[in-house]
Amino acid sequence: MTNLKRNKWAPQKFFLLLILILHLPFFLKAQLKSFKPGAIWPDNKGMHINAHGGGILYHEGLYYWFGEHKIEGEAGNLAHVGVHCYSSRDLYNWKDYGIALKVSDDPNSDITKGCILERPKVIYNKQTKKFVMWFHLELAGKGYSAARTGVATADKANGPYTFIRSFRPNAGQLPYYSKETAATEKLNIEKPANKVDSIFLRDLKGGQMARDMTLYVDEDDKAYHIFSSEENKTLHIAELNDDYTSHTGKFSRVYPGFETEAPAIFKRNGKYYMIGSGCTGWAPNPARLFTSNSIYGPWKYEGNPCTGEGAQKTYGGQSTYILPVQNKKDAFIFMADKWDPKDAINGRYLWLPLVFNGEKVEINWLEEWNLGIFNRRL
Ligand code: DGJ
Repeated sequence: MTNLKRNKWAPQKFFLLLILILHLPFFLKAQLKSFKPGAIWPDNKGMHINAHGGGILYHEGLYYWFGEHKIEGEAGNLAHVGVHCYSSRDLYNWKDYGIALKVSDDPNSDITKGCILERPKVIYNKQTKKFVMWFHLELAGKGYSAARTGVATADKANGPYTFIRSFRPNAGQLPYYSKETAATEKLNIEKPANKVDSIFLRDLKGGQMARDMTLYVDEDDKAYHIFSSEENKTLHIAELNDDYTSHTGKFSRVYPGFETEAPAIFKRNGKYYMIGSGCTGWAPNPARLFTSNSIYGPWKYEGNPCTGEGAQKTYGGQSTYILPVQNKKDAFIFMADKWDPKDAINGRYLWLPLVFNGEKVEINWLEEWNLGIFNRRL
């Protein structure tokens, strides 16, 4: 009787064992526990993360990383696939969600395959409950001359995103000046004071050029589109409307003539910090820090926040985003791209912690680090 019972269960046990063995690779898969700036960064499928010029959205317990999907070789500098999305709970291990916004097969679409689609960023609108993506768009076959911005929306964070339109922002609008800036920076529409102002006025009717960009949602839920404009000579900080899909027409110019690209921004203790780069194509140059007590300025240039060896070239990288780490005080990660224009897919990610000394901020090179670094802060 007992023997019979044993035999009856034998096939089930064997079956369970088989399932366990088949799932063994999943349980044994090593979880990443640190950041290694500049190294290959495998996703949950073991592939190097493909989300360049990216930004991060934190939504309901998950971080979502959006970036340019690159392909091999120089061809990878054009958009052949779209915007890639990954998600993570711990910032080390990223799950591949695939392509959130696909470039189009339609040759008449603004985002047709072979366009240039760079630096996508996503924000969430609490009113409309939509996820809104903005990016820098260059029309196919026209190099970098179109200098447009594109917008797409989705009902879920990981998409799919529907492309809405591309355009040059703030057509017909003059910059906003605060009391502090009006006296020194106000444009003379009749007689431009310099070449940069002439570029601004040249584009007044058709809209301002929009290239490298980021998005920022402030504590009052107002959102801003920050982009290189005026032939990359100036940064514009432009307010978005209530649903985050267009501009209100209010914007300020930051350091006309200073040629800042790759803007990334955060706020700490009521003060705004913006880090960008100079304008040297894919080649690295010194990072630039600006601070301000108001989003519209006046912004103050504070020099290069990077220190030590490699600081003059931002350790080989260029800023793309500054990520506030959830539930940790004063925890911000500087995210940069180490571009490989000859083999675009091989671009690397440099993530480094920001270090504060009072109101001063610094970036130091680390070969390897983890979020525990923020626990040691006062
Ligand atoms: C520098 C920008 O920051 C990148 O996003 C890209 O547009 C390259 N220039 C192209 O040269």
